[in-house]
Amino acid sequence: MYPIIHIPADTSSQLEQMGTKAKEWYWDIENRQVLFKVGRPGTGENWAEKVCCEICRALDIPHAEYELASWKGRDGVISPTFVPNNGRLVHGNELLAKIYPDYEETVTYNSSQHLIQRIRPVLRATEIGVPIGWDKPQVIENALDVFISYIMLDALVSNQDRHHENWGLIVSPEYGLRLAPTFDHASSLGRNEKDEKRIARLETNDRGQSVEHYCNRARSGLYLATSDNRPLGTVTAFYEIAKMRPASGRYWLRRLEAIDLVVFEKIVDNLPNGSSR
Ligand SMILES: Nc1ncnc2c1ncn2[C@@H]1O[C@H](COP(=O)(O)OP(=O)(O)OP(=O)(O)O)[C@@H](O)[C@H]1O
Ligand SMILES: [Mg+2]
Repeated sequence: MYPIIHIPADTSSQLEQMGTKAKEWYWDIENRQVLFKVGRPGTGENWAEKVCCEICRALDIPHAEYELASWKGRDGVISPTFVPNNGRLVHGNELLAKIYPDYEETVTYNSSQHLIQRIRPVLRATEIGVPIGWDKPQVIENALDVFISYIMLDALVSNQDRHHENWGLIVSPEYGLRLAPTFDHASSLGRNEKDEKRIARLETNDRGQSVEHYCNRARSGLYLATSDNRPLGTVTAFYEIAKMRPASGRYWLRRLEAIDLVVFEKIVDNLPNGSSR
């Protein structure tokens, strides 16, 4: 069973302004800087974050660590910082605005300028290394090869939130320029749905109501063309980015195929009772 970390009420903290959910940074007893993020009550955002973290571990996708947590009566998740000392996380929008002068940095959601083709030159640059502490398999040559796994994850868990502030690079004197691990997967796995609706979808014979149909409707935060009025589906986004680096696309798909479904079942079974919503 995954633990629920109880943070002492009197722990001092600093607010984090980025993102839409309430969140605060604190220092734990090992003096690590840790983010406490509150899933919206009535949703499954906290378990979705934890389940996605464990799926990443099973697939060896570099990821932020998450544990279920509770603090001052609020349920959430905690995530130790993945930014090293004196380092900084530079989000996708800041990077893209440096390369494309007309890039609208401040629009977070539904930015049709967030094109899959624009990410390619950013992440293919040879000076950008793979995430810190990650053991690089031979087939992986650059940060784009790793990023493909983040987009495969989005397709697997129907993550609808891969906007340009939900990926980035780490800049640090010690490690240079590195792709950040994947983070913020709270908007996935149908976490907004009620259990009755989930069960109905699992049991129905109506294809239009099936889980498969539901997943096929999931939208990524990535676009194919600025003229498109909606982002790519999560599965199409994966195929589009995998086309740029077919060997890595195949590598990540093989890793996925090699996982027994029991592994996913165990991940979900390890959630403590009561974390279903
Ligand atoms: N483990 C971590 N280490 C370092 N920085 C982090 C970590 N987790 C989150 N952050 C930073 O905090 C910001 C907000 O976190 P996160 O994206 O998880 O929140 P959110 O409210 O769910 O965002 P959104 O509005 O995209 O749903 C991130 O954009 C990132 O800058
Ligand atoms: Mg975010």
